[in-house]
Amino acid sequence: MDVKIKKTDHGLLGKLSFPGDKSLSHRAIIFGSLAEGESHFTNVLAGEDCVCTRKAFEKLGVEIRASSPTELYIKGKGLHALQAPREDIDLGNSGTSIRLLMGILAGNPFEATLTGDLSLCSRPMRRVTDYLKQMGATLEGRDDANFAPIRMKGGKLRGIEAELPISSAQVKSAILLAGLYAEGQTSVTEPVRSRDHTERFLKYFGGSIEENGLTVSIKGGQKLKAKSFEIAGDISSAAFFMAMAALVKGSAISFKEVLWNPTRLGIVEVMKRMGAHFDELKLSDTKGPEVISDFSIQPRPLNAFEIKREELPSLIDEVPILTVLATQAKGKSIIYEADELRVKETDRIHSMVSQLSKMGARIEAKGNTIVVEGPTALHGAKVDSLKDHRTAMSLIVAGMMADGETMVRDLECINTSFPNFFELLKKVKVGYELC
Ligand code: S3P
Repeated sequence: MDVKIKKTDHGLLGKLSFPGDKSLSHRAIIFGSLAEGESHFTNVLAGEDCVCTRKAFEKLGVEIRASSPTELYIKGKGLHALQAPREDIDLGNSGTSIRLLMGILAGNPFEATLTGDLSLCSRPMRRVTDYLKQMGATLEGRDDANFAPIRMKGGKLRGIEAELPISSAQVKSAILLAGLYAEGQTSVTEPVRSRDHTERFLKYFGGSIEENGLTVSIKGGQKLKAKSFEIAGDISSAAFFMAMAALVKGSAISFKEVLWNPTRLGIVEVMKRMGAHFDELKLSDTKGPEVISDFSIQPRPLNAFEIKREELPSLIDEVPILTVLATQAKGKSIIYEADELRVKETDRIHSMVSQLSKMGARIEAKGNTIVVEGPTALHGAKVDSLKDHRTAMSLIVAGMMADGETMVRDLECINTSFPNFFELLKKVKVGYELC
């Protein structure tokens, strides 16, 4: 599926709620499955990535009933009653699913093979498998278990002290989940704190962890108890509409019940530094383990920004849309040392530099640092998602700012994280033609 889109020549108005946050939806399914008792979650993301996590746990014997695609009842099996899968577990495009699942299966005494699509099978896994091997699990795969398919056998684990060279919530979560099964204490230290959803879920579901600066520790031999809550709206999906609200003159979009976890607010901090105006910012109540907020954004002239390596984990998934914002901001924006973007669903430094250049953007990569000069009058072009959902949606926002017609190709990937993206575009009256 492709889309044709023209420059948006009117303000965008509307009040928007977003599908459940992807990171939270994965974890709701995971913790619901490992808890004792029945959990009930609403506003679960029905995107393909989370469907993969759900199917994986069904293959491990967990009973999951969906009263609608976004409402799940999960009969948790506890930590020690998962069943050996009868066939390979396919995690599609989802890095979070495969990495967190490896952590859990490391502590379960059976064999399993985890695989995924072409993109997932070319993403690095040794950052997880090396630690799980140290803990006592057996993992095999191409390049010393660096690439899926990964064949693994779990069993008796021992606690380790892991010092991660790169901040990564997926790696941290995999080790902490394995730590639930390990003898003694497991601790993970990151250079900068990555998103802390796993820590919050562990505590909310009745587990106990210790947090000390950049180190999180967990002891084996705990039990988790079922919980029920609504999943907060995905701030990484809202980010595309936040960019539109800041860029398109005459817009007034308000945002309802969006996840407002401090470890995910890099996009808000950077947009504020650019001069974007956030209004009526009010921290509302919590939704289960997480905090949410309502807010609105008014368009303002935007200035260039700089993002240093330490800030990257708080906006790691928002870099593609930030490069689009940078094309419209005054001055030279620099995103330093974004190496981690090279190993996302696609190489997102390459995808954004190559595709935005076709639209006339002044954007280049100096090694892993991205430099964008603005403001630039973008022009319509034929561009490609490179099968990456966040590249696809970012290019659609760029198309809304470009003269003439932009065609963004190969958009099926958007279903991995934001199945109703086009519905919400319609709601704020953005014109587009799917073809
Ligand atoms: C995620 C962690 C992030 C992010 C991904 C979801 C998670 O990756 O890019 O989309 O749910 O734990 P890192 O492992 O780089 O932090």
